[in-house]
Amino acid sequence: MDHFTYQGQSLYAEQCDVQSLAQLYGTPMYLYSRATFERHFKAFKTAIADHPHLICYAVKANSNLAILNLMAKLGSGFDIVSSGELARVIEAGGDPKKVVFSGIGKTQQEMREALEVGIHCFNVESIAELETLNLVAEDCGKIAPVSLRINPDIDAGTHPYISTGMKENKFGISMSDALATFRLAQSLPHIEVVGADCHIGSQLTELQPFLDAMDRMLVLIDTLNEEGFDIQHLDIGGGLGAPYDDDIPPHPNEYAAAVVKKLQGRPLKLIMEPGRAIAANAGIFVTQVLYLKQNEEKHFAIVDGAMNDLLRPSLYQAYHQIIPVFKQSGEPTEYDIVGPVCETGDFLGKNRPLVTKPNDYLAVRSCGAYGFTMASNYNSRPKAIEVIVDGDKSHVIRQRETLTQLWQGEQLLPQ
Ligand code: LLP
Repeated sequence: MDHFTYQGQSLYAEQCDVQSLAQLYGTPMYLYSRATFERHFKAFKTAIADHPHLICYAVKANSNLAILNLMAKLGSGFDIVSSGELARVIEAGGDPKKVVFSGIGKTQQEMREALEVGIHCFNVESIAELETLNLVAEDCGKIAPVSLRINPDIDAGTHPYISTGMKENKFGISMSDALATFRLAQSLPHIEVVGADCHIGSQLTELQPFLDAMDRMLVLIDTLNEEGFDIQHLDIGGGLGAPYDDDIPPHPNEYAAAVVKKLQGRPLKLIMEPGRAIAANAGIFVTQVLYLKQNEEKHFAIVDGAMNDLLRPSLYQAYHQIIPVFKQSGEPTEYDIVGPVCETGDFLGKNRPLVTKPNDYLAVRSCGAYGFTMASNYNSRPKAIEVIVDGDKSHVIRQRETLTQLWQGEQLLPQ
């Protein structure tokens, strides 16, 4: 459930008329709902109730400072994958002590920065990374809190590009190497083993793969604790899907409740790293129809938003609902909704029945996660404006990029 609903023929974001916002701020525009972000975060929180936990919102889903600040105010921690994301969290008022640092390619500089601010935990993905972190921590005179990311070899049943928990993926340490790697970690003087983690993929629409992964992780944790380790937390990653289409993933409530149930009777703290489930349906992408065009095969609605703004359809053939910002009556035509970028793969949706005409606005739904964060300047297109509504008020949280910003940092040759 989100806060983008029709009142009569007009699409509203909370109590704001989307068409008026599009006219005020221009398009393409990312438009978010504060209430939806908050509601999704609280759904996790409420279901986990009093089990010890830390929800680490996955910054990569939507890293706008205003969004991170909202999350921080709700008490969220953060799952980061780079110095850039760490800097954003700090800039937005997030608490570094609630940060977990994921990713297979942390640089020494990134390790150093994270050690200096005292993050909660490094989610380490290989022996080479572990040994490097030990040396960097020694150099900084610190002990690095570490969780090992274990690959539980679970098929998450999601798109191959976003499935991460199977043997052939580049992520994590295989279950068969897990014990030996934990022992190695324990032996390193500047490493303190505090947890174990996994992340099996994104846009999961079933609970079972999560629960299967947890079962495997809990067996491992029991073995470790019997050996004298003190595993304080289990981080189950992110991955809960959002309802883009007819596929309805479990509600965050249901997911969090099932996960907590598995931990009942254990003192183990639960960490989770949801991104999409919090952000996806908290945002829409608003674009204006420039032209209608027809060839022998197809009808096209050419819009001012493109793959550089919203890459998911082109990259994953991801489906996003596309709806009119102002509903008109008439016989719908099936359109491919395409952008101005010079690529055949530049589309936002295909074969969509719509009643529309030039200058109308369309809303692409469920774009709050992996929308703006995956945008680029391809075709020298400035990045879209980001706006958030809060009840009947709207606020710009990122200005539309200007043309001169496009070449900021570029230089001509001396001659
Ligand atoms: N934790 C780790 C270690 C991750 O790799 C990810 C996502 C998350 C948490 C958050 O997952 P979520 O709850 O959002 O599913 N660009 C793709 C999604 C890539 C996800 C990468 N990792 C998309 O647009 O579908």
